[in-house]
Amino acid sequence: MPKLHEHWASRLGFIMATSGSAVGLGSLWRFPYIAGENGGGAFVLLYVLFTFCIGLPVFIGELIIGRKTQKSAILAYSELTNQSRTWRSLGWLNLSISLITLSYYSVVSGWCLSYALMSLTQFSAGKSSEEIKQIFFLLRSSPGINVLWSSIFLLINVGVIVGGIQKGIEYWSKILMPCLWFILMSLFFYSLSLPGFPGACHFIFSPDFSQLSSDGILSALGMAFFTLSVSLGVIITYGSYMQQEDNIPVNAFIITILTTLVSLIAALVIFPAVFTFGLPPQGGPGLIFQTLPIVFAKLPGTIFISTIFFLLLLFAALTSTISLLEMLVANLIELYEFSRKRAIAICITLAWIVGLPSMLSGSGVMFAEWEKIYSKNFFDTVSFLTANWLMPISAFCLTFLIGWRANRNVIIEEFNQGVGYSFVSSMWFFIIRWISPFVLFIILLQELGILRFKK
Ligand code: PHE
Repeated sequence: MPKLHEHWASRLGFIMATSGSAVGLGSLWRFPYIAGENGGGAFVLLYVLFTFCIGLPVFIGELIIGRKTQKSAILAYSELTNQSRTWRSLGWLNLSISLITLSYYSVVSGWCLSYALMSLTQFSAGKSSEEIKQIFFLLRSSPGINVLWSSIFLLINVGVIVGGIQKGIEYWSKILMPCLWFILMSLFFYSLSLPGFPGACHFIFSPDFSQLSSDGILSALGMAFFTLSVSLGVIITYGSYMQQEDNIPVNAFIITILTTLVSLIAALVIFPAVFTFGLPPQGGPGLIFQTLPIVFAKLPGTIFISTIFFLLLLFAALTSTISLLEMLVANLIELYEFSRKRAIAICITLAWIVGLPSMLSGSGVMFAEWEKIYSKNFFDTVSFLTANWLMPISAFCLTFLIGWRANRNVIIEEFNQGVGYSFVSSMWFFIIRWISPFVLFIILLQELGILRFKK
């Protein structure tokens, strides 16, 4: 007998937890540095367009699937397609992407933990810019320290999700998300006062399409999916905890706006600092770990600003990783009827094992030749593969499932539950059936080199 599903206690709890999943290192760490590498404005514009035109419809679709079936990805796909084995494997693909994402995400989260502690011990005091930069390399190349912080971070996740939905995820999201907004807005108001602010606005908001490569287009799409947490089945799991009377499209819209806002505000916090001190915006993955501490070191109240900033990253990361872990755990519980604790133990061990090569990727202790062979280190390879390829492919299959394979009436009925206007549902269905798969398909063809509309 399957146990009755736990649900979110309140709508606010659902919004906090789901926007917590969406707002994470994707918005605060990945978005600024990838926007920086892709020339700013044009990338940002495309990212916003993709988020609302493709990401949001898929997000709504995932919530619908979850609430309708009251199941997580694997069994949900199976139920919607008359137990089709092929569609069930899409669920397994989702599971694998979530596991890989969780594994490398905890490495970056481990760096955030480490930097929060380093800030408290005033690691940048009396050091030159070059020395501050070197500390990041030192951290990345230390096998023991990476394993230590990533493992501690994974354990914190366990601490949150053993409590279940209401007492674990919802409870902590309701504490962490307001803190996150408070810290982010304080830093934003602070960065308004920096002389680099107008230059940063120009960089972020004036599109120059000559700066955008075809890879940049795919990255903007991948970024839109990544920041919204869609196409991995995570939102299906969170949707399955929704109350029947909740309005899916409105909630999804609110969460999408919140997430996009955080990405833009994060860029408006980071680039003014970068421009004020004439540093290059193409800092790569180290942008916030190498560049910002240099800036913080020059500002009054370094210890305070720096610690607060890395705490912000840590909170954002945690509310995202708990959703990844919850997705894995929920699928295992449904498939094998494991107890929650047992499922958590299995998932966290797997995440740790899969994450080990990423934790050690900067030190060369494991797969030392990886970078020479694949031209990216292990960590960068999995991060690139999952966000730029696996997520768009999985999103394409998902739009196909919702738009073509599942029963239209069932889907539309679920959309309209708790909603007073049915015209919106037809419009949404049109997008998910025709537009989203088409755009995804074209972009994937272009990336495969079969179509060429941009160098
Ligand atoms: N959305 C999260 C972020 O922006 C990452 C994430 C992706 C979380 C997929 C869950 C699922 O950081």
